Amino acid sequence: MTLPGDMRAVEITDGQLRLTTRPLPEPKADEVLIRVAAAGVNRPDVMQRLGRYPPPPGASDLPGLEVSGTIVATGADVTRWRIGDTVCALLAGGGYAEYATTPDGQCLPVPAGVSMVDAASLPETYFTVWSNLFERAYVCEGETVLVHGGTSGIGVTAIQLCRAFGIRILVTCGSDAKCRAATALGAEAINYNSEDFVERVKALTEGKGVDVVLDMVGGSYVARNLSLLAESGRHVSIAIQGGNKAEINIFDIMRKRLLITGSTLRARSTAFKSALALSLEREVWPLFATGELTPVIDSRLPLAAAGQAHARMEAGAHVGKILLEIAPREILP
Ligand SMILES: NC(=O)c1ccc[n+]([C@@H]2O[C@H](COP(=O)([O-])OP(=O)(O)OC[C@H]3O[C@@H](n4cnc5c(N)ncnc54)[C@H](OP(=O)(O)O)[C@@H]3O)[C@@H](O)[C@H]2O)c1
Repeated sequence: MTLPGDMRAVEITDGQLRLTTRPLPEPKADEVLIRVAAAGVNRPDVMQRLGRYPPPPGASDLPGLEVSGTIVATGADVTRWRIGDTVCALLAGGGYAEYATTPDGQCLPVPAGVSMVDAASLPETYFTVWSNLFERAYVCEGETVLVHGGTSGIGVTAIQLCRAFGIRILVTCGSDAKCRAATALGAEAINYNSEDFVERVKALTEGKGVDVVLDMVGGSYVARNLSLLAESGRHVSIAIQGGNKAEINIFDIMRKRLLITGSTLRARSTAFKSALALSLEREVWPLFATGELTPVIDSRLPLAAAGQAHARMEAGAHVGKILLEIAPREILP
């Protein structure tokens, strides 16, 4: 296959997103080169643009943690994928571009029943929620989970997965409209601006509390979350939008035998991410074919409108995932 030497990409310059031209990245021995159909936009991209989430060593400086597209080249050690395969993939960076590389183990097939473009919405949040809620906090059928940010990319994924696996899911959202959107997806939603979420969760669970909290707020939320955990409950931190310090009651942890944990995905090893991909392909991907899972897409914008996509995310106007679509006219001959 003849590939162009250059590609269009969106880079970060002085806190702004700027369309530019870059050389095509070259796949290493264990990597594939993907012609990108679409890239998912995630909050960590916004943090990277603002200088608060630098790419890990060795990663592309371009933003973009997930893409879908067609494999157009493979490294010498790649055996699973062939040129022409369509995939969605988790990246350590570099997704806002016409071409991107990633280790072969971080690719998954486009799930049956999902369009190539919409598949770009899946990797970052499915890897994160599966890893944290199901593996790290080992949530089980019949349990109850509380997730803050119910209409975030992470939130809509958590709702879908919990519903598919028989888990009751409560979420918080910042407006009634977002609560309605989360309810339509199958969650019990609490408007954290008009209600005290602690009191509301207690009422909804008849005082029992929840088995797991997936927290993206941190700060003062942590003590409130812990107060809602039932015996042997698990608290998982995945972000600190409200601050990285919390004052908690250690005796409550002892009394209820709580577990407090958390993680970041981007810096984990290729081996870890590849194992997660296998687990997702086996346990989760078949549920797209049956319609139990479906991407929740807020909007599809052209690559050149990446700045608009970030503005929409920063305004909190979105419900579900924002995608950057790489229209064929944007692909160089
Ligand atoms: N640790 C990891 O591996 C990992 C991986 C991916 C993402 N993340 C983190 O997970 C979070 C979600 O990512 P995303 O891409 O899905 O972002 P997103 O769609 O922009 O969502 C951010 C969410 O945070 C919610 N939020 C902010 N302050 C809140 C508060 N005080 N109470 C309740 N909710 C609050 C917002 O809810 P409202 O709009 O309703 O106010 C919004 O839904 C981000 O912080 C991101 O950095 C972590």
